[in-house]
Amino acid sequence: MDTNTAGVEQTANTGQLPGWDAVDEQVLEAYRRNRESTDGVVADYIPILGAVDPELFGVSVAEVDGGVHVAGDADVEFSIQSISKAFVYALVAEEFGHDEVGERVGVNNTGLPFNSVIAVELNGGHPMNPMVNAGAIATTALMPGATAAEKWEHIRSGLSAFAGRQLQMDGVVYGSEAETNQRNQAIARLLQSYGRIDGDPLEMVDVYTRQCALLVSARDLAVMGATLADGGVNPVTGNRVISADVCRDTLSVLASTGLYERSGEWLFDIGLPGKSGVAGGIVTVAPGKGAIGTFSPRLDSAGNSVRGQRATAYLSRALGLNIFASGVHGSIDGNKQGSTP
Ligand code: DON
Repeated sequence: MDTNTAGVEQTANTGQLPGWDAVDEQVLEAYRRNRESTDGVVADYIPILGAVDPELFGVSVAEVDGGVHVAGDADVEFSIQSISKAFVYALVAEEFGHDEVGERVGVNNTGLPFNSVIAVELNGGHPMNPMVNAGAIATTALMPGATAAEKWEHIRSGLSAFAGRQLQMDGVVYGSEAETNQRNQAIARLLQSYGRIDGDPLEMVDVYTRQCALLVSARDLAVMGATLADGGVNPVTGNRVISADVCRDTLSVLASTGLYERSGEWLFDIGLPGKSGVAGGIVTVAPGKGAIGTFSPRLDSAGNSVRGQRATAYLSRALGLNIFASGVHGSIDGNKQGSTP
């Protein structure tokens, strides 16, 4: 992955964020150093997504104390798409618990694209993980609610609790995807044939399509992620959304599967759990510290925002977020790399 971080020193992970002004300055710098890039292409397999202004670019960091930093178009709304999978999974895990949801939906990477049909076949009908479309549709089907409408309402209100405000669905994005999502319908039918989906498969795809069309901003994503960084309490509203155990489980799933077949590269370059969406959003979580939300519509070939990945890689280094980046014990600033023998 081209992270555009040449010359940016990796700051060791000290367990806390630097002070407010330093974070503010680095958020601005992450925006500035990637603003001019035009790499990648906007998704258009959902036709309306192709109509977005590709120049939009927003970066935000929310801290676990409730402070939020923003740069660029951080308050422009876009559809959450696959990033919804992370938060719907958390709501379902809260309901069913570690073992059952782990068994029914799975936690292992497929190594294949997010909309793969063959992944379901290769794994005997098991959806494998909640971040690919098969696992996400199966997860949505597990949401509490006797009807599709009740499940949808639980999802809308649950994701709103993560964001700390009432999220609205974009009816045009929903309509555009609903008319063209035959592939997701096929995946749901395939899961049904293996006895791996509860309820009417096409109704469950419809609820899933609605959840993907919820509108968020980069700022919202940062707050939603900071709720996962803060043991399940939204740091802005102070309300508990999920348990700390579910946060831990959700973040471990994101670490291995959040960027699909690029998850290994992502962890190698950025060292944090994250989740991307085809409208151009990415949320990245630094447990115990906060979260990064980015928005930029041009994507790489795996469907991940190019400038979003680069801004996140910069912030991971500059703010010392990478969970694998230790310093030498007892060094004054916690950031000495030690000498090579
Ligand atoms: O199901 C779909 O194809 C879309 N609603 C979501 C896909 C997505 O966001 C993949 N992310 N990078």
